[in-house]
Amino acid sequence: MSNAFDFDGLFAKDLPLPAAPWNGFPKYNFTGGHSDPDGIPVEKLIESATRVLRRRGKTLATYNIDSGPLGDAELRGYLADKLDRYRGFTPPIDNILITSGSHQALLLLFQTLINPGDTVICEALSYGAAIGALRGCGANLVPVRLDENALCTDHLSEILMNLRQKEIAPKFIYCMPTVQNPTSTVMPLDRRRVLLDISRDFGVPIIEDECYADLLWDAKWPLSLRGMTGSDHVIHVGSVSKYLSPALRLGYAAAPWPVLSRMLALKADGGTSALAQMVAAEFLRDHYDDHVAALNIRLKRKRDVLIRALEEQFGATAEFDVPPGGIYLWVKLPNGVATTKLAALALEEGVAFNPGPQWSVDPDAATHYLRLCFAYPSEEAIREGITKLAEVCHREFDVPARGANVSR
Ligand SMILES: Cc1ncc(COP(=O)(O)O)c(C=O)c1O
Repeated sequence: MSNAFDFDGLFAKDLPLPAAPWNGFPKYNFTGGHSDPDGIPVEKLIESATRVLRRRGKTLATYNIDSGPLGDAELRGYLADKLDRYRGFTPPIDNILITSGSHQALLLLFQTLINPGDTVICEALSYGAAIGALRGCGANLVPVRLDENALCTDHLSEILMNLRQKEIAPKFIYCMPTVQNPTSTVMPLDRRRVLLDISRDFGVPIIEDECYADLLWDAKWPLSLRGMTGSDHVIHVGSVSKYLSPALRLGYAAAPWPVLSRMLALKADGGTSALAQMVAAEFLRDHYDDHVAALNIRLKRKRDVLIRALEEQFGATAEFDVPPGGIYLWVKLPNGVATTKLAALALEEGVAFNPGPQWSVDPDAATHYLRLCFAYPSEEAIREGITKLAEVCHREFDVPARGANVSR
């Protein structure tokens, strides 16, 4: 009999379910938003860390180094300059809050803006953790359809009109116009204009999440929503995770001071890691362009390896649009293939992926979809993992048919 102290009776009410113990990564890991291990610029990070520690190391003696609670002034300065160069707007550095990942920026925004029972509009398929966090704040989510050009503005108009008739004023629209998660779609400029105009006419602000915007390979970057005229109702969120490292835990929000000051008051964590901020600022200032260009070549090649593997193993059974950037492929399997069940069975064979219902406001609408992240596994692991996945899928659901490797 164990005589360990029993904490169970002490827990607060309404806690989420306990986390499962971590058992290491599966051999073929297509889950989450991990980056490419061979895309991490280790040597250059060592040089940047050494240089910045020599130059600024003593500031680590204080909370928030010498920059105050908004975050390292050098990193905020770098980000303001990058947003100016690539995203079409130049926030004053005091309108940028550095957070521990952009997930924290989203949480702080949601806590700042949502009362239980409020209505929030988001894309029908969206970042799973944001769906969970919005619901955790008590929001009623109203999903907007997506097509190959991202959020459908006609549907948004219809929704806003219906809500107005019911005298419901939505708190905000949460969306990812530039490389959407999970569909990887990019909203063209003319649709961005319509989205801005509609949201402004209805008086509904937008939270624009540009977590993946740096990973656009072929197309030219469209302006961010916040970079377009008439966009001061847009709050812009970005991350260092996807183009440098998720483990650094660095993200940011660019917002007007009345919003930022409320977020800052909620961010009671003593500051985001100053060492991570210093090193990132030093590295990005010198190497951002070269690093991202090289990373994007790697990611595009992995996308192609994944597509080839799916075509060979699943044939026409797996349907998808070819992503122009990012790290995800959103795949549709035949109706009867329950991807939540498939995920559990595939995991027993060492293959992990995210089943569609995790990324859908209405889980029943995505039972036969799955999301594959192609950044983390090696090209060899992608090929082997998809072969195994097809075997499990065939065994359990009788698709793909054997010899399905017809070209799409
Ligand atoms: C759309 C989107 N936003 C935000 C995040 C949070 O990322 P991080 O906290 O690492 O910046 C993610 C992570 O996958 C994401 O997919």
